[in-house]
Amino acid sequence: MTHPPMAPTTPLPIARETGELRAAITAWRAEGLRVGLVPTMGALHDGHLSLVRLALEKADRVVASVFVNPTQFGPTEDFAAYPREESSDATKLARAGANLLYTPAVETMYPEGFSTTVTVDGVSRGLCGDRRPGHFQGVATVVTKLLMRCLPDVAVFGEKDYQQLQVLKRLALDLDIPVEVLGAPIVRETDGLAMSSRNAYLSPEERDVAPTLNRTLRRVAADILGGADVSDCLEWGMGELLKGGFSSVDYLELRDATTLTPLDEAPEGEARLLVAAKLGKTRLIDNIAL
Ligand code: PAF
Repeated sequence: MTHPPMAPTTPLPIARETGELRAAITAWRAEGLRVGLVPTMGALHDGHLSLVRLALEKADRVVASVFVNPTQFGPTEDFAAYPREESSDATKLARAGANLLYTPAVETMYPEGFSTTVTVDGVSRGLCGDRRPGHFQGVATVVTKLLMRCLPDVAVFGEKDYQQLQVLKRLALDLDIPVEVLGAPIVRETDGLAMSSRNAYLSPEERDVAPTLNRTLRRVAADILGGADVSDCLEWGMGELLKGGFSSVDYLELRDATTLTPLDEAPEGEARLLVAAKLGKTRLIDNIAL
């Protein structure tokens, strides 16, 4: 069977300079349009595109930014190797309905003499905050700059980086930034693996093991909701991951869904079960609501 040719997509306008970004937004604002922002680091997959689609439900025009932010990578992390795929990212964003790609250079984001960092205390503590020192400071700083450059009505982030989402909600609230920070549900492969740009690093053997992460999370969540002892369940889950082929487990924890306070009993309000584990050199994260 032959498939009909795919509809041609109009190339997405690209702004590299903040002046170009602001000019586009000023024109939209003059027409009374609402503006959405989807910050990303590129290497886009369906998870990112779902953020664009959610932003389009909440705003008339959507800017997607692609910026591989050096300040959120630790010295031994994958900043240099992080995939950079501008032209395929632009095509995907155009197809998803984004109106502008903003992709600033590192020197314009952090010019000579740059000296300010944004720290969000509380929700940044523990979990990835402990395992990746400085990471949330880098994220909070770059997202503050993107929000100030774009001044959107709404900004959308994925729930896969659940702690990051809570950090950014807190940041907007504490700094009186007039933006609605929205989380979008995790998009998964058919076997349950959360979509992530870092899945591309997995070898075929590691890719076979990777769905154990979500399977284990779901089993632990069900046991906790069924009344089993929380710390026994967490210990069992970590053991399952190691037995299943993960090389190490950074954390498997039950936390309050908003404050991220650790919980050692079955939750009365909303809670989140969060995990980070390494498969060879690749660190995977996932979480589910309880
Ligand atoms: O989630 C990401 O891709 C990044 O942390 C973000 C929010 C774009 C900041 O660099």
